[in-house]
Amino acid sequence: MKKLIGPFTQILPLTGLPLKGALNDEQLHIIPQGGVLVNDGLIADVRSFEELRKANPSAQIEEIIGEHVLLPGFVDCHTHICFAGSRAKDYAMRNSGKTYLEIAQSGGGIWDSVTQTRAADEATLTNLLLQRVQRHLAEGITTIEIKSGYGLSMDAELKQLKAIQNAAEKTRAGLIPTCLAAHMVPRDFDGPAQEYLNHILNNLLPVIKQKRLANRVDIFIEQSAFNSSDALYYLSKAKQMGFEVTVHADQFTTGGSEVAIKARAASADHLEASGDYEINLLAKSDTVAVTLPGASLGLGMQYAPARKLLNAGACLAIASDWNPGSAPMGDLLLQAAVMAAAEKLSAAEVYAGLTFRAAQALKLNDRGTLAKGKLADMQAYPCADHREILYQQGKLKPISVWTADS
Ligand code: NIG
Ligand code: FE
Repeated sequence: MKKLIGPFTQILPLTGLPLKGALNDEQLHIIPQGGVLVNDGLIADVRSFEELRKANPSAQIEEIIGEHVLLPGFVDCHTHICFAGSRAKDYAMRNSGKTYLEIAQSGGGIWDSVTQTRAADEATLTNLLLQRVQRHLAEGITTIEIKSGYGLSMDAELKQLKAIQNAAEKTRAGLIPTCLAAHMVPRDFDGPAQEYLNHILNNLLPVIKQKRLANRVDIFIEQSAFNSSDALYYLSKAKQMGFEVTVHADQFTTGGSEVAIKARAASADHLEASGDYEINLLAKSDTVAVTLPGASLGLGMQYAPARKLLNAGACLAIASDWNPGSAPMGDLLLQAAVMAAAEKLSAAEVYAGLTFRAAQALKLNDRGTLAKGKLADMQAYPCADHREILYQQGKLKPISVWTADS
């Protein structure tokens, strides 16, 4: 059954925009008084509501009353929302002057979330995760990547990935699981980093593959986690096993983005420390540069050089990094709007970074624009001009959210 939704004051389909490089707002194609024809969860047509109504007299009509702007659903391509417990203590310590690395080295940090997540059973973890997923969905995020990485043992990593699978059965949002068993060397692993990575490659990844719990693998390249040569070895082995790969790169020190590009990773995420050398490498590559303004806000540090990355020609996505340590807020739109003001990003660059460019980071080409044949993942804001959305810096939330299976 075909459904015609509208009229919307403005529709921004985000079609016809390049995958890489700077964008200006004149490039945004805006359809006034637009409608969307949906068939079986897919977009069948997007144009003037009146034209669509005349051309489809038998379509069921979902009438939109009042002023609304329609955008594709957002894709949050980097989160860690499968966790138990809180790290409010870390946050307070950090604001009292301790650094991220100092807190990690003194027993807080990622390991604290590992302990709390290991202690939660699968059902509890599923419920905690599902609450965060539903909050994100209500805020217009229709696709959410979710990493493991707070288990760091066979059982606990599998429990996290199982919780993601359970949550996926209970939500309309699309959930994309990623194995981040290489988040750090667990304190209770008796051996060096290389041995731990081999342990994951030989024991965990085959089970994940066999149980179809994830087809993506991530690694944190940093002084407190894994070095570049171990990471490159790990990523190439994971790729040989058929996993897509991504990297936590250049958060505090450089090196990670170069590894990501060498490994032909789908994305290099963070990039707060990236300089001109890394920016140029990323711009020349097919690896998506994912900025995480929520981590900069949580840690009180500089943003990734988003403006420079776009000017150099990179494909720039914006994700929340929602996690209990460095990015506890989890409000993707607010974070993107605030970073846009600091980095001078156009609305077109922000929308692209939250939709089709973020979908590219997940290698998903079935979503991210309102083009014929794409998933009908969409969100409507109660305003007459799309510029209100970023102007209100995240306080204006979508009033309706549609997904392909709603
Ligand atoms: O993306 N950088 C490494 N991992 C997370 C932080 C995880 C944590 O502190 O719990 C991040 O910021
Ligand atoms: Fe992260």
